[in-house]
Amino acid sequence: MKSLSLLFASFWMVAAAVSQTTSDISIIPQPVSLEKKTARFVLTNQTKIVADAKNADLQRIAGYFSSQVKTATGFTMATAPQTVKTNVISFTLNRTADKTLGKEGYSIDVTAAGVQVAANDPAGLFYAVQTLVQLLPKEIESKSVVKKTSWVIPGVHITDYPRFAWRGLMFDVARHFFTKEQVKEFIDDMVKYKYNLLHLHLTDDQGWRIEIKSLPKLTEVGAWRVERTGTFGTLTPPAENEPRTYGGFYTQDDIKELIKYAADRFVNIMPEIDVPGHSMAMVASYPELSCTPGSYHVSAGEKFMQWTDTGFYALVDNTLCPANDKVYEALDKVFTEVAQLFPFEYIHMGGDECAKNFWEKSDAIKQLMQKENLKDMHEVQSYFVKRVEKIIESKGKKLLGWDEILEGGLAPNAAVMSWRGSKGGAEAAKMQHEVVMSPNNNVYIDLMQGDGAIEPPVYKTVLLKSSYQFEPIPEGADPKYIKGGQANLWTEQIYNMRHAQYMTWPRAFAVAESVWSPKEKKDWNDFIRRVEAHFGRFDVAGIKYAPSMYDPVFDVNKEGDQLKVELNPQIEGLDLYYSFDNSFPDRFYPKYTQPVLVPKDAVTIRVISYRGKEPIGRMITMPVATLKARADRKK
Ligand code: ACM
Repeated sequence: MKSLSLLFASFWMVAAAVSQTTSDISIIPQPVSLEKKTARFVLTNQTKIVADAKNADLQRIAGYFSSQVKTATGFTMATAPQTVKTNVISFTLNRTADKTLGKEGYSIDVTAAGVQVAANDPAGLFYAVQTLVQLLPKEIESKSVVKKTSWVIPGVHITDYPRFAWRGLMFDVARHFFTKEQVKEFIDDMVKYKYNLLHLHLTDDQGWRIEIKSLPKLTEVGAWRVERTGTFGTLTPPAENEPRTYGGFYTQDDIKELIKYAADRFVNIMPEIDVPGHSMAMVASYPELSCTPGSYHVSAGEKFMQWTDTGFYALVDNTLCPANDKVYEALDKVFTEVAQLFPFEYIHMGGDECAKNFWEKSDAIKQLMQKENLKDMHEVQSYFVKRVEKIIESKGKKLLGWDEILEGGLAPNAAVMSWRGSKGGAEAAKMQHEVVMSPNNNVYIDLMQGDGAIEPPVYKTVLLKSSYQFEPIPEGADPKYIKGGQANLWTEQIYNMRHAQYMTWPRAFAVAESVWSPKEKKDWNDFIRRVEAHFGRFDVAGIKYAPSMYDPVFDVNKEGDQLKVELNPQIEGLDLYYSFDNSFPDRFYPKYTQPVLVPKDAVTIRVISYRGKEPIGRMITMPVATLKARADRKK
């Protein structure tokens, strides 16, 4: 009897130890396989690193890890020979027999004696380091030494590798300029979540951001505009002779430095030169490249596109002229230099949202159509893209473009980035072209992540849940053509790095999991648990994130003469409290349980969410007039 109770007692002790460690494990993206162990490893100031001294990659990756450990713990991790087996973190290349790991996979074994990290290739070791850091307490993210009694790594055996080879984030450095150091910061954050591709959107109507030595005006003129702050599309155009004080660009040395910085972290940089639309900065620099003679300026964010129910047109011609040979000569110069700078195999040529209304009026375009037997403006753009493809291929690179390049006929070898939903990706895959999925309804992280009543205004909303639902293989598509997926951070409305972080996180956690983790491993509620753990890590690291998932989304309908408001929490386990009397609700106010009628004469509904007794969401003040306008629009 006694021995039986002892057996039970030890069983419960072991079980408690396991559950204690599991609740501490919050890895994003979710690994392929994670087995928990009872033993755990405690990192101390005596812990040593074991890594082959003759292998430069291994040394660099181990150094990356030990420098983060040193910053947060103050421990200087000495190296030890392979014969040392206790109190070590050992990094090994090519010791694994597990071929499923591929180039980017890894395994981690944590025992009381130490941590064994193994991979086939350096990239795998680098991703193992990211996981290892996430296994340590959140204080490991600190930028200064934290006096902590115990740096515990829970006992685990992890085997992990990515679902997709293309795991991208796009950073628009054209609409607002972000410095070289800020781009490095962006890279530092993305690699923690195992992204491996930085798509730099380098040119647009609001700025040209890369030095092209053979076309100096691109940066002398195109990189600078008048400074404006406010809402994109409503800003004031420049006055005559107003100084162009806002902007910047990367010199070719800057670009080389960024490429090296990224490569050291296993990130490729893909440049985008967005043509023939979105080209106002290029046209302002070289007006002879337009079909429409005139003088141009780099856009300050004023209204110059008109969106309609059926499409859009330009109020000012912001396109390159496909009928002008000078355009192809200029692009040859641009792509020669871009191809020499960037080792990545693809160059993105944009191709999106090109207004055709000025082309329709151009005699040169009419002549081109006759000569080349082009029947509409889509075929004119397709003619342009095919010529650009030849230029890009002549530099030894492959062309990638937004899904508009399908219109009028896809260039022979072009890869397609599908952003207007998944349709373009499915179509291109059917035609046996390579595809990267970036559907705006899931992965456009420039869009609002909650109700417009609380979020900084942008065109529309993409909730965290929609990002988590991102499935990179479009229905019916042959997976072999889908290279992967990426989230896009456009910056029309992003003026600074803190806001860039707010927009990126946590939705980029969701996209990371969609492109790295096995589909069947995704679990929304568990993801939210892990997101909250990573919020804690970001708090320590001083990285901004959006707490929008704690706020409800409003819906409204008319019921007779009254408005009926529905509040939809984004995650489970929250209580919503509200007021109609203009005062600030707390948990002693009415609790929302079902849609509520707006009382006659009320001017606001204020709502706040709680978890238990703690306020967790932000105080949202929704004007009744806004609700009424929304209900009217629905009719
Ligand atoms: C795009 O969002 N215009 C590609």
